[in-house]
Amino acid sequence: MLEGAKRAINTALEAWRRAASANKARQSGRHVTRAELAAGLQRLGIAPGDTLFIHSSLKSLGYVEGGAATVIRALQDAVGQQGTLLLPTYYLPGGTLHATCEMHDYVFDVRRHGTHMGRLPEAFLASGAICRSIHPTHSVSAWGRHAAYLTEGHHRAPSIFGAGSPWQRCIGCDNAKVLGLGISMGPVTFYHALEDAMGDAFPLPIWQARTALLPCLDHAGTRWEVPVRPFDPAVARRRIDHPGRGDLRAYFQQEFDAAGLRVNGQVGDAASWCIPARAFFDHLRLLASENVTIYSTAAQLAARPVSHGASGHPSPSARA
Ligand SMILES: CC(C)(COP(=O)(O)OP(=O)(O)OC[C@H]1O[C@@H](n2cnc3c(N)ncnc32)[C@H](O)[C@@H]1OP(=O)(O)O)[C@@H](O)C(=O)NCCC(=O)NCCS
Repeated sequence: MLEGAKRAINTALEAWRRAASANKARQSGRHVTRAELAAGLQRLGIAPGDTLFIHSSLKSLGYVEGGAATVIRALQDAVGQQGTLLLPTYYLPGGTLHATCEMHDYVFDVRRHGTHMGRLPEAFLASGAICRSIHPTHSVSAWGRHAAYLTEGHHRAPSIFGAGSPWQRCIGCDNAKVLGLGISMGPVTFYHALEDAMGDAFPLPIWQARTALLPCLDHAGTRWEVPVRPFDPAVARRRIDHPGRGDLRAYFQQEFDAAGLRVNGQVGDAASWCIPARAFFDHLRLLASENVTIYSTAAQLAARPVSHGASGHPSPSARA
């Protein structure tokens, strides 16, 4: 009873906080429409039939009329009926992969659990017309042509990001791209696809020894035990998405720009970028062969200046 009341108060407080924050954004931000967002996506090279894996910051886009649902519709406009959208609808009640694996009473329920990955993934889940993968920590949601194929079978995959996962399947799709809307090169899951593909051949050990089996309930309420191998927290602390690793984020940005793989442009007010998924994966593999990973130390980065090994083509830049 007390728990229920506490939850209700917290939900009401969060709704109030969000309304105040949206109001502030409406008063201070430039107003951006669905058509303007779709045009920005087009300038980034997004075309009908594309498959997009999207990481986003709603706030960075300016004030979007209609909120996150409008951004989803603009993304659907850009890829069309033959296209596919994938969003990270991860649910990590422990805060991190490691802490979530330590929770003893946690059972992921795809019918009930939301996401901790921001307002766009939340709106995507709420949009209804999506397929969602069954996974206790890294459930992915998809809309469009390849949605069922990309999300099906995640719970049977031997690792989170490896064979049979949405990432490996996405890499195999024609015209698959990773899209960053208003985010840096930090919070990008594709890096882990290479780690799981290479396994012990990855340049450094990044995982804990123990693989946890986390229970999940699928759409029919059937229970699955899904293998999850957490990252070693000490290694994860020096990763590209850690606040203190601006050097790694800048390096990867410059590296993918210099290799001519990253298209940069504005979507609404957000500095955004797009990289073809297959080329992203192949280039990460090339970097790993030269001892550059998302865990590299400053000394390792200094030993391999960005221009080395890059194509020398200037980065394509979408005209605003
Ligand atoms: C963490 C992160 C989500 C924060 O970005 P953000 O823009 O602050 O957060 P959201 O995208 O959830 O957008 C919410 C914000 O949009 C703003 N907002 C509200 N309504 C809005 C509207 N109509 N138009 C524009 N902005 C609006 C509010 O400021 C809101 O902030 P609040 O939470 O204080 O209410 C982002 O930096 C990030 O890392 N994204 C990638 C996440 C990911 O994919 N992770 C997986 C990688 S392994």
